[in-house]
Amino acid sequence: MTQELFLDGRVALHAGDCRDVLREFPDNHFDSVVTDPPYALVSITKRFGKEGSAPAKDVYGRGAAGFMGKQWDTGETAFAAEFWAEVYRVLKPGGHVAAFSGTRTYHRMACAIEDGGFEIRDQLAWTYGSGFPKSHNQPGGFGTALKPAWEPICLGRKPLIGTVAANLLEYGTGAINIDGCRVATEESLNGSGNKPLSYGGDNHRPYHDREPRGPTQQHALGRWPANVLHDGSPEVIAAFPSTGPSKSGGKSTGRNFGQEHDDDFTKDRPRTGHDDFGGSAARFFYCAKASKADRASSKHPTVKPIALMRWLCRLITPSGGLTLDPFAGSGTTGQAAWEEGFRAVLIEREAEYRVDIARRLEECGMGPDELTYSRATASSHSVQDGLPLFSETHH
Ligand SMILES: C[S@@+](CC[C@H](N)C(=O)[O-])C[C@H]1O[C@@H](n2cnc3c(N)ncnc32)[C@H](O)[C@@H]1O
Repeated sequence: MTQELFLDGRVALHAGDCRDVLREFPDNHFDSVVTDPPYALVSITKRFGKEGSAPAKDVYGRGAAGFMGKQWDTGETAFAAEFWAEVYRVLKPGGHVAAFSGTRTYHRMACAIEDGGFEIRDQLAWTYGSGFPKSHNQPGGFGTALKPAWEPICLGRKPLIGTVAANLLEYGTGAINIDGCRVATEESLNGSGNKPLSYGGDNHRPYHDREPRGPTQQHALGRWPANVLHDGSPEVIAAFPSTGPSKSGGKSTGRNFGQEHDDDFTKDRPRTGHDDFGGSAARFFYCAKASKADRASSKHPTVKPIALMRWLCRLITPSGGLTLDPFAGSGTTGQAAWEEGFRAVLIEREAEYRVDIARRLEECGMGPDELTYSRATASSHSVQDGLPLFSETHH
């Protein structure tokens, strides 16, 4: 198996089609899968000219340009149960998959994940404010599309070998990391806390049961994480109702849960800790702000915010675990996993993006001077700094 290793061997990059590369891994190898497959957003009509002109087996498959003219924006892999069956094979029992998708094509991917053997555990919403409607305006105030403001994330789990506790003991997987992903707050959280259990060995995070606390107790680590995440943008904050100033008086602590690497590369990103958001109900949900640094000089059109990828890695990966991203793009999962103290295996088919992944991961290990030089060199190669991180150019 040919792989490029980065960050003291903690992140491995494989070149090729993930359907081929995955065959080389043993059963029950990975602890989690965090991925962002192509959404295949360009319709069958646009791809092939008219309804029905594509061979039945090639619906959403390769053969015509997809999102932003990209040949890779197709569903032949992520909409196929056979692909997810292979992901199932290489994932440990109780291991979770978090997979992004588009609102129009989510159903195809979610069915394929389920048909591949997974149990669908949840659907998370990633909401953002920077989307533009791709609408064809019609006379009289009519159009053809709404403004995109969220993307679904499918949360699946490979079935357990028995109880959650037994699975945790055997494999370290099966539960999600509630405490590591709580939403920081200074407000009093009556009755929403939980008592730690001590499942797992040295390499396992402490997981938690659902035993409620007394009515006057406050959970020191924050609110129970919800299946809604947002980017903290003014549009999103305004879309949530105002519940009045919080009891904390709107103080921002800048607290962030999870491991922090105190290097220059991560210092410049916005913190994702407690923020009152002027009393907006947005404060009840995890805020993963995007930073310019997330792009790491890549021209990839669908770069995800590192804060968001870190939260997802942290949610479903046991301490010190190995995460897989079969559709790595510019490598945000690899960076996020490393920043959280995990190991990662990335697979990317396009050579152009593998160069971006290599640069991103090399920059993770750099000191401030080296980093400044690397970024200056990369931007002198006409990188499109103006590309948004997600939303309207996303898939
Ligand atoms: C939506 S992008 C991922 C973007 C990534 N989350 C980021 O933040 O940069 C999906 C990636 O999957 C890659 N891809 C598509 N089909 C693939 C396949 N069968 N095997 C490996 N990579 C594939 C594409 O080249 C593309 O870079």
